[in-house]
Amino acid sequence: MEDCGHKAVPGGADMQLEVVFTAEQIGERIEELAQEVAKAGLDNLLVAAILKGSFIFAADLIRALHGAGLAPEVDFISLASYRKSTTSSGAVEILRDLESEVRGRNVLIIDDILESGRTLAFAKDLISARGASKIMTCVLLDKPVPRAADIEADLVAFRCPDVFVVGYGMDLGHKFRELPFVGHLVEQ
Ligand code: IMP
Ligand code: MG
Repeated sequence: MEDCGHKAVPGGADMQLEVVFTAEQIGERIEELAQEVAKAGLDNLLVAAILKGSFIFAADLIRALHGAGLAPEVDFISLASYRKSTTSSGAVEILRDLESEVRGRNVLIIDDILESGRTLAFAKDLISARGASKIMTCVLLDKPVPRAADIEADLVAFRCPDVFVVGYGMDLGHKFRELPFVGHLVEQ
């Protein structure tokens, strides 16, 4: 993990945030990812961002897509995954569905973290079953853990150490989403 410094945790007296990826690093990678998406030549593109965790990443990426000459439509799907540490099947549930018709469209699915793979695999299978034309998947972070679902993302901003991260849209108990960087909470 790159040591980019520490920041005090707002309201967390004995916790510190170790910066894992800075706002600048994220911004640079997003420009590169946008070029990769543009190269794929996906016309009639629909972005499907998985809420809540990807909302900031998606917001930055779609603006970079504009800079790369694309004009995607944007929609959101809210998914919840229920992790069961002792069993292999953690279910994924749709809390809020896409509004857009995906049949015949090229779809870019955006998520924050690829971990077990259940969330991204669920979204990809769902959008595929609804008749999408081409599907591209893009995640901010890829954690090096064994997958429960057989999936890799087409585009990854960063390989992430196997630690719990927050910030840049990602939360711990609904906190820390507002941080402009990706951080790891450490006890002092
Ligand atoms: P998967 O379904 O196991 O691949 O998990 C992916 C989802 O779990 C992500 O969309 C995140 O919302 C959440 N998640 C996994 N690891 C972390 C973490 O370190 N911090 C915050 N959320 C996480
Ligand atoms: Mg998520």
